[in-house]
Amino acid sequence: MVAVMGFSADQIREAVQMMYTVVARNPAAPLHFPVGADACRLAGYDEAMLDRVPARSLESFAGVGNPFRADVVRKGDTVLDVGAGSGTDVVIAARQVGDAGRVIALDLTRAMRSKLEGILAGEGIGNVEILSGDAENIPLPDASVDVVTSNGVLNLVPDKRRAIGEIFRVTKPGGRVQIADIVIARPVTPDCEDDPALWAECVVGATVDEIYLDMFRDAGFEEVEVIRDYDYFAHSPSADTREVAKQFGAHGMEIRMRRAQSAPSWLAHWSKRLHPSRFLRQVRLRGLWGSVAFAGALLACYGTLAAVGVMSALGATMALNEGVWAGAIVCFAALACIAIGFGWRKHRSIVPLITALAGLVLLAYAMFIEYQMATELAGFALLGIATWLDFNRRRWSTVPGGKSGHRRVARPVATEAAPG
Ligand SMILES: C[S@@+](CC[C@H](N)C(=O)[O-])C[C@H]1O[C@@H](n2cnc3c(N)ncnc32)[C@H](O)[C@@H]1O
Repeated sequence: MVAVMGFSADQIREAVQMMYTVVARNPAAPLHFPVGADACRLAGYDEAMLDRVPARSLESFAGVGNPFRADVVRKGDTVLDVGAGSGTDVVIAARQVGDAGRVIALDLTRAMRSKLEGILAGEGIGNVEILSGDAENIPLPDASVDVVTSNGVLNLVPDKRRAIGEIFRVTKPGGRVQIADIVIARPVTPDCEDDPALWAECVVGATVDEIYLDMFRDAGFEEVEVIRDYDYFAHSPSADTREVAKQFGAHGMEIRMRRAQSAPSWLAHWSKRLHPSRFLRQVRLRGLWGSVAFAGALLACYGTLAAVGVMSALGATMALNEGVWAGAIVCFAALACIAIGFGWRKHRSIVPLITALAGLVLLAYAMFIEYQMATELAGFALLGIATWLDFNRRRWSTVPGGKSGHRRVARPVATEAAPG
């Protein structure tokens, strides 16, 4: 899903760890995004909350909002902080849950975990457990926490659906979730690909806001509520970052939700995901040609069959000869190829077009030279795969992409490091 532009999910995780090692060890390094106590205030924390947070936690704060605005943590709760970093939110949550409660601080980056360990020991905060792990594979049992909190993390996670599924799994039925994160409002165009300003990684990996919220609903969360939308990037020290963020409508979002009593059924899950409004949204996000490619491939594969079915249902006889049907199939397939070809502008990958053309050749061979069902089916299959590849790559190119239209990996050096 994220093995793109030569970067695998593992490489993304590695780059993220290198970057946040810098934030942990050298927070004063020049960064494109706000870090530290001032960043914390800009993110919306009030002084009373920050009063008792150790300075060493605050100096490496890299959150993008104030998830505690959701007000879902209660005394005695077990709280999981996904991507806890140097622990500003961990300390706040530890005080809110009190001695009867517990906070689990999960983070991928060893330097962040070590820093937090030292801070907690120094402050004598005993109700926190530090956990090494990945948001996509949370090392906790099912239904083991009352609240999940996270700040500026999911936009860095390669497979967000999986991470959100994991958050659902570890949260108790009826449990609450509070999140601050970066989302984008509109797809990124390919013209921006080679703009160095796109290294404003705060935008990298972010999801279109509506899709982001739907991922939680699909996983089985209810009452998904946006508490605040705000211009996080207005505070970026980099003019390039501010400009890029503006271009894509990148902004901060604080949300809260409740975990449903049970996981959604397979039917409920897919009826949400396949809802026509989602399809229309994809058309809007992926552009006209992506939709034409999809419709063309669909028509090529099923259009003629559907037409025959409808005509028979209406009692009409087949007046058209086989050559016309064969021509129609090949024309639709050619139309799909043209539309898929336009996808190159978005994702700069030639693979979907080559796959589609191979499908077209097989179909044409089966229709006009020598009919064999296996050849025809192989043609349809290749066309379907090409459409899927094109759609998928267009989707990834809705975030700032590299040459192949996929997410870039944050550059793991201090001067070019990215916000979460
Ligand atoms: C932007 S920082 C935010 C840190 C902290 N929440 C705060 O507000 O200061 C993102 C943190 O998430 C961690 N992280 C990134 N990807 C992760 C993943 N897949 N699983 C767990 N932690 C992750 C990073 O190591 C980093 O500490």
